[in-house]
Amino acid sequence: MKEKLRQLKLDFSQEIKKVKSPAELEAIENKYLSRKSGLLNNILRGLKEVAKEEVAEIGAFANELKQSIVEEIELLRHKLSSGGQSTSFDFTLPGNLPPIGHLHPITEAIREIASIFGGIGFQRQRYPEVDWDYYAFETLNMPGDHPARDEWETFFIDSKPIKMNLPANSQKLVEFGKRILTPHTSSGQVREMEKGKLPIRMMNLSKCYRRQMDVSHTPMFHQFEGLVIDKDINITHLKGTVDYFVKKFFGADRTIRLRPHHFQFTEPSFEVDISCGLCHGTGRSEDLPRQSGAEAGGGKCRMCKEGWLELAGAGMVHPNVLRAGGIDSQKYSGFAFGWGVERCYTMKAGLNIDDIRLLYKNDLRFNEQF
Ligand code: PHE
Repeated sequence: MKEKLRQLKLDFSQEIKKVKSPAELEAIENKYLSRKSGLLNNILRGLKEVAKEEVAEIGAFANELKQSIVEEIELLRHKLSSGGQSTSFDFTLPGNLPPIGHLHPITEAIREIASIFGGIGFQRQRYPEVDWDYYAFETLNMPGDHPARDEWETFFIDSKPIKMNLPANSQKLVEFGKRILTPHTSSGQVREMEKGKLPIRMMNLSKCYRRQMDVSHTPMFHQFEGLVIDKDINITHLKGTVDYFVKKFFGADRTIRLRPHHFQFTEPSFEVDISCGLCHGTGRSEDLPRQSGAEAGGGKCRMCKEGWLELAGAGMVHPNVLRAGGIDSQKYSGFAFGWGVERCYTMKAGLNIDDIRLLYKNDLRFNEQF
């Protein structure tokens, strides 16, 4: 019987070579594999007469044979249907790339800002996001019911005001007040001073929360705050640092100006403006039609109208703040600045995002554009 099967194998391999069309292939398939009249089954019907010891071996051989016949037929069927090519797969086609994501634009901005300041020695520090009134207001020269506090639109945690010993001075019992979500990164200032290490050159780059939500505000946003405290620190250091950052982040052609302002925790205080990237601080646009009141040479710049864009707050650390942090304000002085990451980022990219809330909607159609 094994002999017969071997013969069948030979016959099949001879015959299949001659097949030229799907019809011929089907005929061969029937001839060999048809259940009722196929040659293979014809032989296997004789299995009943085979000696018991041989049945297993012959059965296995027959199975293998059948399998190889089926495979050869399938292969040929595929060849015939794909126009004679051995395969329909074209290896030269470019593949389908898996989608590749990227960091959120604000994460990228945070990393860039941290690395710019890292390059001039500002060490990034972290402070609690849920902090005490004491660090966000009280020690920043905004006692109890000072009206300046209103500007920070603070979220208060539903908790009882508490009294505690100062971490830096266990003898001193102070009112820490209520718990809050930090409304600005300045809450890190006195915490940094309390560490008792001078000089200070810290960067606090973190989430802030305010009860505000409109096209230019989200209840959660980011600020980056620089604080430098050392002997003989003066306004020129502040100006140089801020100017260095602006040139690195926005471009070498940008400059800054300081405008007088007011913060309770800095004296003097400034608002920092950056020269407009479109008109380079002139406020005029040569290619715009002349507008009434505009100087000769062009119309008003459509971005800034007056040459400067308002960026952020800064100032020289108030002596009361230094004192609250246990630092001798006669010996040491410092500067601080605190700016919004989202604002800087949208200004840098020249993005005219008409609703800043889009940044945190998690809508891929928006995020993928960056
Ligand atoms: N904390 C201020 C704000 O949120 C900004 C600021 C920081 C101003 C440091 C001066 C010095 O508006």
